[in-house]
Amino acid sequence: MNAISASPAEGARADVAVPPRVLVWDAPVRVFHWLAVLSFFGAWITAESERWRLLHVTLGYTLAGLVAFRLVWGLLGTRHARFANFVRGPKAVARYLGSLVRGRPEHHAGHNPAGALAIVGLLALAVLVTFSGWVTYHEVWGEWTEDLHEGAANAMMALVLVHVAGVVVSSWLHRENLVAGMVSGRKPGTPADALRRGWRGLAALMLAAVLGFWWWQWRAPLGGAPLDDRAASAQRLEPPQERGRRQRRDRHDD
Ligand code: HEM
Ligand code: HEM
Repeated sequence: MNAISASPAEGARADVAVPPRVLVWDAPVRVFHWLAVLSFFGAWITAESERWRLLHVTLGYTLAGLVAFRLVWGLLGTRHARFANFVRGPKAVARYLGSLVRGRPEHHAGHNPAGALAIVGLLALAVLVTFSGWVTYHEVWGEWTEDLHEGAANAMMALVLVHVAGVVVSSWLHRENLVAGMVSGRKPGTPADALRRGWRGLAALMLAAVLGFWWWQWRAPLGGAPLDDRAASAQRLEPPQERGRRQRRDRHDD
């Protein structure tokens, strides 16, 4: 474990050596994170209105794809991205929380054990939310899945708020801007903590895949002639495959 203890006061003292900032989060982790934030909040904002259903579903699928990538990257990815290197048992979580209470927070170059718990919960809830959204959209099992979807989405929003609060509190206690770290990829650490490779090409590929998916989602439903409002809102309610089939039928009828 790469944990060292330092109180906030010590960190602030000029005579104590401040560890250099080293690359901890590779580019795919950062692209994953900020696209997940955009998709989650975007899907949340568009959830209630049938008018925005296609956008809601598109952002939901985006989150599902991102989470699928993150689960694979958690097994095969760089050091601090691998689950085996940051998911810890209850003892480590209790020890970390105890270190916060004592005012000598353990420093972790990667995720701290309490943050890791929230991260695992967020990934698991994202799977449940997107799966329940999909079965609701395609009317696989009946109306009860709507409640499951809404309940799972609300639980996820609650955990997101805990996660963001945890980020703010940890940033303050460690005197270290964790949000900036998730943007630049750099956090205080030893040279031994530093990643050797940033995997920028893979991140660019992820971004291209997401933009391509968005373009593909919008092209089919919006490709036809202008539609009146009722037809447009009926279309937005249709599952995409059904809409595609109907558009092909319409073209044949012309
Ligand atoms: C504006 C809101 C958010 C902010 C400011 C934020 C900030 C952060 C920061 C700073 C970290 C790194 C923590 C560390 O250094 O250990 C992080 C990690 C993480 N956050 Fe967020 N977060 C936000 C919203 C979300 C949302 C909505 C989700 C879920 C969809 C999410 C999922 C995650 C995950 C899974 C990680 C782990 C990153 C990884 O290892 O891949 N966050 N977040
Ligand atoms: C980021 C992931 C998602 C979040 C946060 C989310 C959130 C929500 C919420 C809160 C509602 C309830 C809105 C209300 O008050 O009526 C809702 C409804 C709905 N969502 Fe999602 N959703 C997500 C992903 C998905 C996905 C992937 C699909 C489909 C593939 C989907 C399909 C639906 C449908 C069809 C409804 C309407 C259910 C009804 O008729 O009441 N959602 N979503």
